[in-house]
Amino acid sequence: MKSQDIRSKFLSFFEEKKHSIVPSAPMVLKNDPTLMFVNSGMAPFKEYFLGNAQPKNNRIADSQKCLRVSGKHNDLEEVGYDTYHHTLFEMLGNWSFGDYFKKEAIAWAWELLTEVFNIDKDILYVTVFEGSDDVDNLDMDTEAYDLWKQFISEDRILKGNKKDNFWEMGEQGPCGPCSEIHVDIRSVEEKAKVSGKDLVNMDHPQVVEIWNLVFMQYNRKANKSLEPLPNKHIDTGMGFERLCMVLQGVQSNYDTDVFTPIIREIETITNKSYGKDEKIDIAIRVISDHVRAVAFSIADGQLPSNTGAGYVIRRILRRAVRYGFTFLDKKEPFIYRLVEVLSNKMGDAFPELKAQKQLIENVIKEEEQSFLRTLDQGLILLNRIVEETKDDIVSGEKAFELYDTYGFPKDLTALILFEKGLKLDEEGFETELQKQKNRSRAASEMSTDDWIVLVNDTDEEFVGYDTLEAQVKLTRYRKVTSKKDGEMYQMVFNLTPFYAEGGGQVGDKGYLEDAHGDVVYILDTKKENNVIIHFAKNLPKHINESFKAVVDEKQRYRTECNHTATHLLHQALREVLGTHVEQKGSAVHSKYLRFDFSHFSKMTVEELRDVENFVNARIEGKLPLIEKRNIPKEEAIADGAMSLFGEKYGDTVRAIRFGQSIELCGGTHVKNTSDIWHFKIVSEGAVASGIRRIEAITNDAVKDFYFENNRAYFEMKDLLNNAKEPVKALQNLQDENTSLKKQIETLLKDKAKNIKVELKAELEDVNGIQFLAKKLDLDAGGIKDVAFELGSQFNNLFLLFATEQKGKALLSCYISKEIVAEKGLNAGQVVRELGKYIQGGGGGQPFFATAGGKKPKGIDEALKVAKDYLK
Ligand code: SER
Repeated sequence: MKSQDIRSKFLSFFEEKKHSIVPSAPMVLKNDPTLMFVNSGMAPFKEYFLGNAQPKNNRIADSQKCLRVSGKHNDLEEVGYDTYHHTLFEMLGNWSFGDYFKKEAIAWAWELLTEVFNIDKDILYVTVFEGSDDVDNLDMDTEAYDLWKQFISEDRILKGNKKDNFWEMGEQGPCGPCSEIHVDIRSVEEKAKVSGKDLVNMDHPQVVEIWNLVFMQYNRKANKSLEPLPNKHIDTGMGFERLCMVLQGVQSNYDTDVFTPIIREIETITNKSYGKDEKIDIAIRVISDHVRAVAFSIADGQLPSNTGAGYVIRRILRRAVRYGFTFLDKKEPFIYRLVEVLSNKMGDAFPELKAQKQLIENVIKEEEQSFLRTLDQGLILLNRIVEETKDDIVSGEKAFELYDTYGFPKDLTALILFEKGLKLDEEGFETELQKQKNRSRAASEMSTDDWIVLVNDTDEEFVGYDTLEAQVKLTRYRKVTSKKDGEMYQMVFNLTPFYAEGGGQVGDKGYLEDAHGDVVYILDTKKENNVIIHFAKNLPKHINESFKAVVDEKQRYRTECNHTATHLLHQALREVLGTHVEQKGSAVHSKYLRFDFSHFSKMTVEELRDVENFVNARIEGKLPLIEKRNIPKEEAIADGAMSLFGEKYGDTVRAIRFGQSIELCGGTHVKNTSDIWHFKIVSEGAVASGIRRIEAITNDAVKDFYFENNRAYFEMKDLLNNAKEPVKALQNLQDENTSLKKQIETLLKDKAKNIKVELKAELEDVNGIQFLAKKLDLDAGGIKDVAFELGSQFNNLFLLFATEQKGKALLSCYISKEIVAEKGLNAGQVVRELGKYIQGGGGGQPFFATAGGKKPKGIDEALKVAKDYLK
């Protein structure tokens, strides 16, 4: 059975059981600070489990893209080495939100596997939770045990511990006991040797878990205690790639049709075969896995970058490049060439891949190129380290520096050293790594207390589209302590006019005031799932009373100008550059806006002007805001709204229209485009290959911008003696400057020539060597010229020249090659040693070297001791 058919059979099975089939949510979730990526099928539905929101249908099924590369569930380092772990995988899941429970979940799972997919029940094992006598003190799941007994003989029902049979999403959140279904696909002979029973959960590649049925009934709180959930739920997750392995009768996920087309393409490109050499196989598995993770992430709007989720994506891609570089001899970009096959294979089930193919290819290619440059550079540095290494061990500190500063991977260092017959001090490396981890942990340490609930009211209403002021009551609060911000309080109200950071727009600031006139400032507003959280340095005095909550009007208004302008800018770019332009990110602040979009070349001055004019024409056109709230996504799209990434099932949307610009947007906007007053682009540049960034300003900021520019213009004109044509006058000045520089250069050369004659007369014979140590009034280049010119006339020179330039000291040492050879003197060593007098260091070649330092006062001392080298 083809993988496509397996996926659709799963979905249609649950559709028949009255489940709504929904598309996969994006892997990077909006508004969930506890998760970097969706790591299991249930993550997008967390709010339904916690009872903070209600789904339209309390039965849902889907195939969710999951990424297990960070946090509690992290499989990254295993990927490639075995045949059944992945970074990105599809999780087939069915959910009941307070509807059916264990009985149906177990019966349907059994029916699907054994009757629809016809898996032989003699290759199946199931597990149930055995209970725990630790702090949680949980009973064995006898209910599940009894249910399974109806389908499978008891010797195939295994009891499992908390690690395997109590599923938790993360440090906090919904959890519960679970039953896993495992398959044993070994040969009859193998089975005769060891029973499958003994291999369940033992990391055997052919005895693997395929499906996990979680019976959600608790919430793990920040204080680690378990609290029963208001309703019981079902969360199941089946590994799609593993199911394909079983149904396609192969022994490895990589031998299913999910991976084979990618693997064939890698073989073609690299001229290596899969299945002959374990090292090559690992590399091929790593690359075929990682290209999927990276391509899907980029399609979901997460570009590789230096921080957060983007950094994780960059690391995954770099891991793939490294394996290609080391084991497949690929020294030029090639991973981007696999995107074509991937999009052909999966583009129907995941249209975002097809739609963004070109961009994904460009981004991956550029990332590959830049990392390959890093590897090249790293190799040079590593060779230098090897040359300097006296024994056969390279210090962990140096290898760590290579890794930390230049991004050169440790295992590659170890491998190269191994090939050169050297060893890496692994322990030293680990110590340095640990030190760095401790440093960053200390910097980001944060503790979050549990919520203190004052009123059990989870339906916090946002009223800030219509008003900036409202009478509110505090429903819960908690304290968060971090190194960065110290103690902060997070507060939730029954309703709020404060807009929470989201959709690129910053959160509102403002204040709370009670009837006694006591005021608490709200410093920021953020969302955690559906809950709007207000940040303050302290709690209000009378927490049980009601407050007037007031949003900072000025900041909100300026932010709104920038937000509406962002929509108009998006429309303008598609109009001026073409409809390939897609939003790739935005930041809407009160002072400026930033907009990232796909486009493949630098914008010309004319294009920028056209875009500005387009936006300003709509501002002058006084277009009113037309807003539709809480409508289904499909309705908005039918109206002509552009669908952006980031929506998931259950999200109703808000459509914002200004003239022909219609977007799905939760942000706040001006009532009329004329409120913006004016729009001005201040910069345009590249962020990544194929992604450009525009920064722009509106309203007051434009006035300030023109005012400042005008002031600078008049100041410049003043400096140019009120020239009629200041640009021309400036050009003249520049030309004059260039010619003066040339004259100075010639004069300095002449001066150096004269100095040379003087210096020659000052040479002193010390033991047959012409010696001179002297401070000169020349720059580094001048000194070098003088030294080399003298060098061409003598073959027994030892010169130490010093100079002081801009408060810094420079020592230059020249030793004739003959003296270097005869006396074993080395200019590099001389300057390194004398460098201590000027508090600096340097190096170079044995016959010429320089050192810089920050203590010019030490020059005399250095010159004085130079002669000692000749004794
Ligand atoms: N949440 C469970 C898991 O990830 C079942 O979907 O295994």
